[in-house]
Amino acid sequence: MEEGVLFEITAENLETGMRGYPVGFCPTSYVDPIKGLHYMGKPISELALKTPEEVIFLLYYGKEPEHHDLVHFKKELASRAKVSKEVLDQIRTLPRKGHPMKLFASALLTEGMLEGKNDYKEDCLNIIAKIPTIIATLINHHAGWGESKPSDPKLGYIENFVNMLNLPQEKTEDLIFAMKLFNILHYDHGGGNLSTFVGKAVASGLEDMYGSLSAAISALAGPRHGRANQDCLEFVQKMQKELGDSATASQIESYLKKMIEKKELVFGFGHAVLRVEDPRATIFYNVAQKEYPNHPLVKLALNLRIAGVKVLSENPKISDPYPNVDAISGITLIAAGFPYPEYFTVLFGMSRTVGIARQIVYERQEARGGKGTPLVRPKYFYIGSLELSG
Ligand code: MLT
Repeated sequence: MEEGVLFEITAENLETGMRGYPVGFCPTSYVDPIKGLHYMGKPISELALKTPEEVIFLLYYGKEPEHHDLVHFKKELASRAKVSKEVLDQIRTLPRKGHPMKLFASALLTEGMLEGKNDYKEDCLNIIAKIPTIIATLINHHAGWGESKPSDPKLGYIENFVNMLNLPQEKTEDLIFAMKLFNILHYDHGGGNLSTFVGKAVASGLEDMYGSLSAAISALAGPRHGRANQDCLEFVQKMQKELGDSATASQIESYLKKMIEKKELVFGFGHAVLRVEDPRATIFYNVAQKEYPNHPLVKLALNLRIAGVKVLSENPKISDPYPNVDAISGITLIAAGFPYPEYFTVLFGMSRTVGIARQIVYERQEARGGKGTPLVRPKYFYIGSLELSG
């Protein structure tokens, strides 16, 4: 190989989703195949129990906040949090029958049209500050729960979000804890996950922050990416229906083997980068096991954690037979008092907006000595006279 060439692309590397090809630098986070997710070099396990504001500060400024930084940052977010009535009214006119991720993508475009500043840095902080109100309004509207309570950022980033949701049932401290954890664990996942890559690619054409984020949210909406958390929950519920609440690990093992024979997909296992149990999943499993050991879905998820690895490890073609975050994130939310799987991906997107927006700021205004990265424009080979299958 020539000097300076990282690796050569051969025909076998094409049509593989660019899996693992280096394309740039990420300023916020990386995912080690064995040690998992790190924000600014810190393992996610060290950050999971901090406050959302502390972790957002870390991702935005690249360092952990001192006490006075945090006080100032909370005020900064609060001063940017108001979403105009015009935007909220527009969200409340969106059709309620589509998947809420479609409403999310539309709401971002509306926010950009009516309140965008056409400045990536300003819009990054603005959207981070406003997203809890936008998402609470969207969920309340889509679920038919009525108008949101007014935003009160003084309550705290996630406390305010939960307060604005008009849930039919009581909102407990457990729910706030689980929502905070979910929010922090999903902010960022390196530079190459589909939604982040798409957001940055769209921004490379100099589309503004909101259009870029809207595209990123559409990328997150697919079942192979963000919607896997909803699909995984539905998979465990189906298993619950078929095997009952007290299915053992060995019953689940036979169930999974039959699924694999029928070429059905086992949800919640495997990851593009990870080669161990996702450390975010481990954090959720620990919380679920400690706080909700008797919840039927938690019990099933814990047995599935064992059975899934056993069955999938038997297949040499599977490079990562371990649970990913989706295997338990939604079940923890349900156990904590949010039994609404349709909104799991929306909560993922509300969180991931932080990392995507920050990475867009890097690529547009900081990369290459401030010049920014060029327009994304990969090459495709013309297939010519080759016979296309299918
Ligand atoms: C994740 O959070 O696991 C992702 O966004 C998926 C990925 O990293 O490709």
